[in-house]
Amino acid sequence: MSQPGDRPYDIVGVGFGPANLALAVALEEHNARAAPADRLTAAFVERQPGFGWHRGMLIEGATMQVSFLKDLVTLRDPASGFTFLSYLKEKGRLVDFINHKTFFPTRVEFHDYLSWAAARVEHFVRYGTEAVSAAPVEDGEGGVTGFAVTVRDASGAERVLRARDLVVGGGLQPSLPEGVEASGRVWHNRDLLTRLAGMEGPPPARWTVIGAGQSAAEVADHLHRTYPDAEVCAIFARYGYSPADDSPFANRIFDPAAVDDFHGAPEEVKERLLDYHRGTNYSVVDLDLIEELYRRSYQEKVLGRERLRILNACRVLDVRETPDGVRTAYEFLPTGERHELDSGVVVCATGYRPYDVLGLLGPAAGLCERDERGRVRVERDYRIRTVPGVRAGVYLQGGTEHTHGITSSLLSNGAVRAGEILGSLLARRADPAAARPEAVAVG
Ligand code: FDA
Ligand code: NAP
Repeated sequence: MSQPGDRPYDIVGVGFGPANLALAVALEEHNARAAPADRLTAAFVERQPGFGWHRGMLIEGATMQVSFLKDLVTLRDPASGFTFLSYLKEKGRLVDFINHKTFFPTRVEFHDYLSWAAARVEHFVRYGTEAVSAAPVEDGEGGVTGFAVTVRDASGAERVLRARDLVVGGGLQPSLPEGVEASGRVWHNRDLLTRLAGMEGPPPARWTVIGAGQSAAEVADHLHRTYPDAEVCAIFARYGYSPADDSPFANRIFDPAAVDDFHGAPEEVKERLLDYHRGTNYSVVDLDLIEELYRRSYQEKVLGRERLRILNACRVLDVRETPDGVRTAYEFLPTGERHELDSGVVVCATGYRPYDVLGLLGPAAGLCERDERGRVRVERDYRIRTVPGVRAGVYLQGGTEHTHGITSSLLSNGAVRAGEILGSLLARRADPAAARPEAVAVG
């Protein structure tokens, strides 16, 4: 997959999760129908050794939080051969799936779908390869015509990939409470299943789970089901787990059209909309799971042995390893009373933060325009607004919640966004001098 004569790629993609996979699919479909001169070359680098979508959270029975119709392509082109339905047909499960009467397949099945699609475009991908930095390529007259991306493979060997445009889809980075570091006994939920699989000796008699989002509820549920003799303590600041708002009108915040509305809106309107609809995504849990956890907790009260303990309205103060476990100090918010809880393992299901694109760009970060809060300015076509003279583009798949709204880190708009980014790449290739902030969709 190297470029003849060391010619730059049209696109180097950083990360190969669902976002850049959707772009690779759009690219594959474009190249299949384009004349040879109009085809685009691309190399996506992915740090994992093979395709994987949040593998550490592929908990048995956990379901998708988005309709299968919001797969890699359907909203861009329902007739594509990369739809979830095409996958089902190829796997011989189309009829069985229909009888299942659900829009929300298990995450395990969706992972299999994504892997199936990734295998069909793997000629674009270098697995086991991490992008470590990106430097601008200059034309000698003060202009920037591309990027030189330094990548490192699993052996530590580095090489440079040159690209006209960069598409950064590095996903979300796990976030731990301030002062807390991951260790053998303090985990982020991202690593749950891998950590459990690598555990030696008897499992802990008590587990602590911090957080009240979907991840926290799934982790508490999984540990409680998997270790029938263990106590699972859930600590969070809310009074109770709160349901995700997946009602139909609110769901419109995930529509492709909502991106247009959001991008054009004044800053205070953007903030207000994000605030109104946080409950569609953040710190919330599927109602079915909340009810299941409550049912279990009540049943344990009836039986007189409470293994699922909900420490609500509590703020975590400190998480510290002891010789034989972890001690979590927390405060009961209504009284300010301090408590300590010893457990074998603490799982922090404390959310994520966006990928640090400016960190990746290093010195080239100075080419990016920022707003008064230091956040990158991003055009409607997902390209970072750059200083004059930069003809190369840095597109963002993720990290655009402040400019494009709540779908930034989600699957909902992935198919449409991939088409818009490809449309912009093609339009700029045809007319490199043109600034094209508006999205150009490729269907
Ligand atoms: P994602 O994080 O999936 O992929 C980024 C990739 O980039 C990773 O594979 C990473 O290894 C790689 N990478 C990062 N830095 C790199 C570098 N420097 N060099 C090379 N590779 C690098 N959303 C939704 O809409 N519906 C849902 O059902 C769910 N379900 C869900 C479950 C769980 C457990 C989580 C944690 C999250 C979700 N989400 C979700 C939200 C989630 O963000 C979304 O499903 C996608 O993973 C977003 O895809 P991305 O490709 O943007 O990121
Ligand atoms: P999240 O929704 O951001 O929730 C993070 C939780 O951690 C919140 O309860 C937050 O509490 C708490 N928290 C954050 N910082 C803390 C700190 N310093 N101390 C104590 N508590 C802290 O994260 P998530 O649950 O991982 O969900 C992230 C995304 O993944 C969402 O899009 C979600 O839908 C998705 N997801 C999907 C599935 C699925 O498809 N089945 C499964 C898991 C996750 P406060 O609210 O009090 O700040």
